[in-house]
Amino acid sequence: MINAKLLQLVVEASNDGIVVAEQEGDDNILIYANPAFERLTGYPVDDILYQDCRFLQSDDRDQPGLKVIREALANKQPCRQIIRNYRKDGSAFWNELSITPVFNEADQLTYFIGIQKDVSAQVQATERVRELEAEVAQLKRQLADRPA
Ligand SMILES: Cc1cc2nc3c(=O)[nH]c(=O)nc-3n(C[C@H](O)[C@H](O)[C@H](O)COP(=O)(O)O)c2cc1C
Repeated sequence: MINAKLLQLVVEASNDGIVVAEQEGDDNILIYANPAFERLTGYPVDDILYQDCRFLQSDDRDQPGLKVIREALANKQPCRQIIRNYRKDGSAFWNELSITPVFNEADQLTYFIGIQKDVSAQVQATERVRELEAEVAQLKRQLADRPA
């Protein structure tokens, strides 16, 4: 088992965001966020502690992935969804968010660990492939329709 200090070093060195939230009523409030979360979102950790992460969604709340996350949290189940988030400067990014519940027997509370990965480049590449596939399909149709 690695010691607590080494574990902290590892979590702080992570290239992906890592946060820990504690359930408080309908909210899951942040009690820890690593430096990568600060770099990804532009929010200094002191500004966002004890808040629910939904502030990252701005007004963009009508996303299918959020329904899945809500249900998983209510059932204390793990989940992974790609959702749109917004940095402090308002710029958007695609967040592959993985959330896992952690049950602490000692204080009888449920915590959640969240890992945030910026997958904007992958999502944009997938959208571009879709656009190009549609263009190719259209060109093929036009060619097929051409009189011989
Ligand atoms: C540990 C943890 C990390 C989360 N990280 C994010 C995040 O990075 N971005 C985000 O939009 N929502 C995040 N959420 C989800 C929101 O906090 C919230 O659960 C979600 O918006 C669904 O609930 P709501 O409809 O009440 O807002 C996280 C939740 C937990 C428990």
